[in-house]
Amino acid sequence: MQKIKKYKKTAVSFANIAFIKFWGKKDRKLNIPYNNSISMNLSNCKTTTTVEFNPRFREDSVFLDGERLEGEKKLRVLKVIDLVREKAAMSWRVKVFSKNNFPKDAGIASSASGFSALALSASSASGLSLSQKELSILARRGSGSACRSIPGGFVEWIRGRDDSSSFAVQIAKANFWDLRDIVAVIETGKKEKSSTEGHLLAESSPFFKIRQKLLPNRLEEIKEAFLKKNFKKFGEILEEEAVEFNVIAMTSKPPIFYWKKETFEIIEKVRKLREKGILSYFTTDAGPNVHVFCLAKDAFKINKILKRVPGVLFTIINKPAQGAYLISKHLF
Ligand code: PMV
Repeated sequence: MQKIKKYKKTAVSFANIAFIKFWGKKDRKLNIPYNNSISMNLSNCKTTTTVEFNPRFREDSVFLDGERLEGEKKLRVLKVIDLVREKAAMSWRVKVFSKNNFPKDAGIASSASGFSALALSASSASGLSLSQKELSILARRGSGSACRSIPGGFVEWIRGRDDSSSFAVQIAKANFWDLRDIVAVIETGKKEKSSTEGHLLAESSPFFKIRQKLLPNRLEEIKEAFLKKNFKKFGEILEEEAVEFNVIAMTSKPPIFYWKKETFEIIEKVRKLREKGILSYFTTDAGPNVHVFCLAKDAFKINKILKRVPGVLFTIINKPAQGAYLISKHLF
């Protein structure tokens, strides 16, 4: 007897933190950025997503962390599902079930792990077998930074000119450099402005054009420091970029203030640690939480110190992680 093919697949994918940020969209519909960006996948910030297409389903349904999504949030997921349905020439309804192991909307890019896991699970469930480049492009349509969570380890998103030329490629495998990213979480609630809104405002900063002039050089410099494993140089550029990204946000019209007083307290602590010879450097995403980079050998000590800073709720220690992959255990 012929086995009936099941149109159901589950994927795991990790969030990423950008060393050089994507901030501002050249094409808002396609999520094409103004500049290339570079990131590392985060081993302890992961999303698992199961997608099933089934002719018996009467409607599309989407669940995230046990909550049924409606309105805008659901439409954003269905946008990627529709691209898959179009590619696979399939019209069946879908059920999407997704869970994060970290707080969503906390400036830890849950959209990156979420949409990359969705791109892989949905395309595989539909019967498509996409290349890494095609998956990266599909994930980008859901959320720009999600394209960087498809390849493993350390990744560069080549901005490209159009839909087919804007995707991420690996710079180095996860085991290339034993870095740690300790996220000092000070807020888990929804941030005051989503990155989607932030991207739209970026161009209104009088410094946006200057930033675009500075970026190509900074990108080459951080890549060189990274490939030579020069942690001091790498960290200095990481911080320069984090500050500049926030300056753009703070000088947008209207301004966005992502950093809170606790953010500054952690930054202060990181600088004090350096004075004592313990090398660590900070960056942030579109939120108040701080990502503290250090070498693996110092992670335990630094983590203990960060947890004691007033306002730090908890920390998440991340190693460089692999890219998105399929698993056989489904969520439903
Ligand atoms: O992918 P989005 O639209 O959530 O934008 C991500 C923006 C930043 O996280 C602030 C920077 C980046 O490159 O990840």
